[in-house]
Amino acid sequence: MQTPTVSQTLSTTLQHRRKRLAELTETPAILWSGGYISRNFPANTFPFRASSHFLYFAGLPLVNAAIRLEAGKLELFMDDAPPEASLWHGEELTRSQIATIIGADRAYPLTELASKTANTVTIAVQDSKTYQQQCQILQRNVPYPQQAKEQDVDLIKAIVTLRLCHDAEAIRELKKSATVAVEAHKAGMRATATAKTEAEVRGAMEGVIFAHNMTTSYNSIVTVHGEVLHNEEYHHALQPEDLILADVGAETSLGWASDITRTWAVSGKFSPTQRDIYNLVLIAHDTCIANMRPGVEYRDIHLLAAKIIAEGLVDLGILKGNPADLVEMDAHALFFPHGIGHILGLDVHDMEDLGDLAGYEPGRTRSDRFGLGYLRLDRPLRSGMVVTIEPGFYQVPAILNNPSFRDRYRGVINWDKLAQFGDVRGIRIEDDVLITETGTEVLTANLPNKLTEIETLVNSRS
Ligand code: GLY
Ligand code: MN
Ligand code: MN
Repeated sequence: MQTPTVSQTLSTTLQHRRKRLAELTETPAILWSGGYISRNFPANTFPFRASSHFLYFAGLPLVNAAIRLEAGKLELFMDDAPPEASLWHGEELTRSQIATIIGADRAYPLTELASKTANTVTIAVQDSKTYQQQCQILQRNVPYPQQAKEQDVDLIKAIVTLRLCHDAEAIRELKKSATVAVEAHKAGMRATATAKTEAEVRGAMEGVIFAHNMTTSYNSIVTVHGEVLHNEEYHHALQPEDLILADVGAETSLGWASDITRTWAVSGKFSPTQRDIYNLVLIAHDTCIANMRPGVEYRDIHLLAAKIIAEGLVDLGILKGNPADLVEMDAHALFFPHGIGHILGLDVHDMEDLGDLAGYEPGRTRSDRFGLGYLRLDRPLRSGMVVTIEPGFYQVPAILNNPSFRDRYRGVINWDKLAQFGDVRGIRIEDDVLITETGTEVLTANLPNKLTEIETLVNSRS
């Protein structure tokens, strides 16, 4: 790796994180970063992304490295690049230089790791080659986190405790990421007037992210078919009557994510039906954020959004009945089928490699209810958490044409009224929210979300 841009406080923060880990678990832990995954020949690789658990304690996206954490100390294991590598990669930082930057207590070549594995715990990495090395060096089958046995579960629980509530360094990085994602969304709105396809809008947005030496924190969604929740196609032509749903986030060079969605009209002006639904989703979004503070259950925030959407759809004549009863029977989920959001940190759905061990408070499990099954976070909010708030409205054919849903909800949908909203396929408004001691700080607040402000941006062009 070449010289990274890191803050002066990084090594102090890393020291603090491993001290806190030592307070939570005494067993020594080894965490691997992972390696490159090749395409058609070894040197043609997919972009490298270090394991987030490694990044949290090692700070830098080191390739093929491992760290051993014990009693607040960090030992770094990695090989120096062979001399011939400089022909292709330039002069790279040495193990000992990296050890200084991250404040490692000792640094060794990778071969030394095998002698330091007694009684250690770990977390399975995502890339299969490193995973095999992990099992081989530890001489045991490392279970994936959901099946982890006692020894590794203690480490997982400790890491969840630490990563759920962010320290100052993490919040600084999350804010950097949010700032760039905000600019990317503004660029996408401004590019729309002259763009002919979704791909051109995506290019304008990702161009901002890459120009800041960041990358995207997940595959961007930039689509006129917002009803396809994770749409990754960009070829559609933009038509004046379309809405564009753009769900695009940035990732800093140290791995911290943002996750923003905005929806705007290609023409620069929402139709009356689009306005009605947009404003309803915005009320749900704003009311959720206004009710968030430490101690509040995130599940209740989800149910609050569900109730507001159900009320609004009753007012618009799309749903029939009492809003509370409609939520009870999950009728809101016909149009808002996902959860209100998730935790955000080193990954966009932070720590979801751990299944629900991070997202769900111990003792709680996923509901199998249609309206709650995609709730990714079911914990009381705590100061230092960063979560997304992302209510939406979608007309998903797979839901609305599903015979069993049509049968179950036939008494509560006014299909004729719904047909009048045919130009509203998908709307989502998503912001990143830090829970503070007393309430919230919206990290992405510099990106307007009021309808008139969005229209002004789309029409501003420069
Ligand atoms: N960008 C994926 C999500 O919002 O959850
Ligand atoms: Mn999200
Ligand atoms: Mn998103």
